[in-house]
Amino acid sequence: MIACFGKEQVKSFDVEKQLNYCNKQLHKTLVAIQKKDCMPRNIPDSLTTWQLVSVEIGEWTVGFWPGILWYNYENTLYKQDADIATYYTDLLKPLTTLPAYDHDLGFQLFCSYSNAYRLTGKEAYKQILLNAADTLATLFNPTVGTILSWPREVTNRNWPHNTIIDNLINLEMLYWAAKNGGDKKLYDIATQHAEISMAHHFREDGGCYHVTLFDTIDGHFIKGMTHQGYADSSLWARGQAWAIYGYTMVYRETQDKKFLRFAEKVTDLYLSRLPENEFVPFWDFDAPDIPNEPRDASAAAIVASALLELSCLEDNKQKAEEYKTAATNMLMELSSDKYQSRETKPSFLQHSTGHWPDKSEIDAAIIYADYYYIEALIGYKKMLTASVDN
Ligand code: GLY
Repeated sequence: MIACFGKEQVKSFDVEKQLNYCNKQLHKTLVAIQKKDCMPRNIPDSLTTWQLVSVEIGEWTVGFWPGILWYNYENTLYKQDADIATYYTDLLKPLTTLPAYDHDLGFQLFCSYSNAYRLTGKEAYKQILLNAADTLATLFNPTVGTILSWPREVTNRNWPHNTIIDNLINLEMLYWAAKNGGDKKLYDIATQHAEISMAHHFREDGGCYHVTLFDTIDGHFIKGMTHQGYADSSLWARGQAWAIYGYTMVYRETQDKKFLRFAEKVTDLYLSRLPENEFVPFWDFDAPDIPNEPRDASAAAIVASALLELSCLEDNKQKAEEYKTAATNMLMELSSDKYQSRETKPSFLQHSTGHWPDKSEIDAAIIYADYYYIEALIGYKKMLTASVDN
């Protein structure tokens, strides 16, 4: 990691304090869920305990809890923290040999097993990731040039070849596999998906559609629409967060400047639409009842993590500074008493919105907000350490 913080920034945010807070909250969750064969998913606003989900193919969030436990182990380095991360990672084993149900295989297996492999070097984890990447690639349609995100919606909703913006995140598993002994074609699949998405998933201003539909016969783009946002052409906060994170990662993997320029474009739109002097967005930037709409802390956590990395990858010093400052402000706001759950719930964060049109997970604590929050804190700590060392 390159030195990314100047001396004046080194003291601006107490990252150790926030990581200790995460460790404390996470152990509250462990006591509450008592090694049940389930993963925490959300805590609705009206409740104080996690709603659990069993490890099953359709549940896209099951990899986040093991991922959180690995990040926590990365910080504490206590053997018992690695043991508990191993226990929950192993619960995902049934998913590792199934055919691809949808693109979420990446969220499920990469957030968990890639951290497990990175921190333990266990060969078995590597093999699981290589297999999972091959499985995910079976959803790639070469006529369109993207992965089919939701096979079930081909008939359920008559969405011929559908690709959702979240799918960008799962390209990382393909890039990882191509670099770690897997088929080199996985790199090309990921890059082609990123290119086609860049061409069709975005409006002129850089705002993304949640869902894009393509024709399966000749691959032409049919239309862009929403599923979890307010309207087809509105700026759904988490969708844009996935785009920022996705193109930052694609640039890191390809070193192709067109992806860096695009990551800047999608980021600059997001930053320009944030409420003045606030860093956690409303769930959709175009929701009709702002400022009375619920927020989405998960979007802020995803963007904070992405912008820390983007600031290090930047070739433009001014932009690097701007993104680093924005990410730090996001982390500071997320770490305030407004967004941290503290004594009220065992999650790290509250005030995320999962699926507003479905009236589900509104103003809730949601596991992926916690995952990207601790990922960003770990990233921040590494950048700080690199700055102090240099
Ligand atoms: N991947 C689904 C979501 O962002 O809610």
